[in-house]
Amino acid sequence: MALRALFPRRLTRPGLLGAGIAQSRGLQTFSLPDLPYDYGALEPAISGEIMQLHHQKHHQAYVTNYNKALEQLHDAIAKGDASAVAKLQSAIKFNGGGHINHSIFWKNLAPISEGGGEPPKGSLGWAIDMNFGSLESLVQKINTEGAALQGSGWVWLALDKELKKLVVETTANQDPLVIKGASVVPLLGIDVWEHAYYLQYKNVRPDYLKNIWKVINWKYASDVYEKNTPLE
Ligand SMILES: [Fe+2]
Repeated sequence: MALRALFPRRLTRPGLLGAGIAQSRGLQTFSLPDLPYDYGALEPAISGEIMQLHHQKHHQAYVTNYNKALEQLHDAIAKGDASAVAKLQSAIKFNGGGHINHSIFWKNLAPISEGGGEPPKGSLGWAIDMNFGSLESLVQKINTEGAALQGSGWVWLALDKELKKLVVETTANQDPLVIKGASVVPLLGIDVWEHAYYLQYKNVRPDYLKNIWKVINWKYASDVYEKNTPLE
């Protein structure tokens, strides 16, 4: 994730931050990651127009507003303004979650020519069979939960490191999966906000969910799974 120094001027202004906080906080700002493929590369499953708007407008807005909220948080802490700090929490959760979730989502997708839609191999494929019976059953479960999710949110395939099993979870709005617990690692997150499909699929979210599997990057999910399941 690209990071660059933020607030260099403020960090050197005497008296604003106090108590040595400035030097230890290491404030950074976040930036929009590049997509690892062209906007039109996931067609016909997801149109180039959707991908471009989703990335350049929606994800960018989360990044911009996240940085803004963090700057305001920085100022509120510097002033010792506890009310302002508390008030910023929802903006940080929403926009920070939006940035985290979309950064995963882009990596969960791949053009068919680059392996998109190829079923998982190796230990993840085996774990899916063990936990859900088959890949088809897992896809059906995710599609059912994603279609049933009221309003906006995400449906996830995750590894619960504590329970040592795969789980399907949903989160509302832009809540990142980490709110379900530190032991839950996202392998695959599907965005079921209308902005992810409406231009192409209108109100038919189940069709979007059906087609997105054609461009799912199981290689990425397998890599994350294997990194988090060391051989015992
Ligand atoms: Fe989105």
